[in-house]
Amino acid sequence: MFDVYKIRKDFPMLNNKTQQGHPLVYLDNAATTFKPYKVIEACNNYYLNENANAHRGDYDLAYKVDFNIDKVRQTVANFINAKKEEIVFTSGTSMSINLIAFGYGMKYLTKDDEILLTEAEHASNVLPWFKVKEHTGCKINYIPLDKDGRLSIDGLKKVINEHTKIVAIAQISNVLAYLVDIKEISKICHEHGALLMVDGAQSVPHIKIDVKDLDCDFLSFSGHKLCGPTGIGVLYGKYNLLKLTDPFMTGGGNNARFDMCGNVAFLQPPEKFEAGTLNIEGIYGLGAAIEYLENIGMENIEKYEKELRNYAISKLKTLQNLIIYNEFAEGSIITINVKDVFAQDEASYLNSKGICVRSGEHCAKILHDFLKTVATVRISFSFYNTKEEIDILYEALKNGGDFLDAYFN
Ligand code: ALA
Repeated sequence: MFDVYKIRKDFPMLNNKTQQGHPLVYLDNAATTFKPYKVIEACNNYYLNENANAHRGDYDLAYKVDFNIDKVRQTVANFINAKKEEIVFTSGTSMSINLIAFGYGMKYLTKDDEILLTEAEHASNVLPWFKVKEHTGCKINYIPLDKDGRLSIDGLKKVINEHTKIVAIAQISNVLAYLVDIKEISKICHEHGALLMVDGAQSVPHIKIDVKDLDCDFLSFSGHKLCGPTGIGVLYGKYNLLKLTDPFMTGGGNNARFDMCGNVAFLQPPEKFEAGTLNIEGIYGLGAAIEYLENIGMENIEKYEKELRNYAISKLKTLQNLIIYNEFAEGSIITINVKDVFAQDEASYLNSKGICVRSGEHCAKILHDFLKTVATVRISFSFYNTKEEIDILYEALKNGGDFLDAYFN
């Protein structure tokens, strides 16, 4: 049975108080999550007991590292219903998307082609495609959002055409947190001969993902947003597409041989994309994080976070001084502003009460033109947050209308 109070004991960060002595109310989980002991222990285990390089040593210690990396690759594959050879270790979502933009987009797109994005995308899913445009001369267009900021299937149907070669969208966006129907979108993309790249940074930590069922071509996500370490992430790609993709980085560990004339034989995917020494402790930690989440159950996580969000919405809605930008979103994010208070001031005030939230544009800089505001306050939940923490947030926001008065009261 899901017991949040039992779960909280697994997270050492939750024992901390703020500098002002408040209990720490961490509501910035879309930026990064806290780590359970199991993840910290897995990383420590690498340094304490298994420290060797991967894919290079002919001794037991190195074999053990190779074995464990392979095991984690399988764990990741099972987690999203992929094959082990379709899982590439990267440094995070940004690198995963860049890898496809540089390795596939730049190789195959031409000036007659088009990439489709949305205005709600994170910089990581916009700027790499701008680079593809710069190098190939292709066009970039945006799938229109509806009045609430949701990507609709009708919006996609209006703009997709025979020139569209890549559609790159977040499954759950990092500000408005609407869940996109990836299965339906991949069907439409494929009918038009386009590939679908899914930014899963804000979805994979919160809902069960099955890449075979979704039929997306690529999926990217980060370890640190799902209770794993920073600096480790995943690119999933259909194997035939990974074979067609050039490595983004080359060097030791991704080639079979090369000669003085510049002839290079690369390894097969996924190793083809993993030049240089891997983030081994990150991989150990990622494996432990996924095992930890699976132990709780992704369905339980999704159900509990929904309950938490509904509870928060029902309370925050009673505050007349609040603008809620995404009341009906499916993701674990609530984006607000307090009327007449600048978002960063509001976040600083909440900080004085021990509450951590993110304010600003959240790296989704085009979206704020759509929302017609320069900045917002983002509250983002994880399965270790509680209703009591939401009550603390509610009480603080109740007094948060007048920034200066509220701060000094
Ligand atoms: N991508 C992270 C966020 O949305 C950092 O906050």
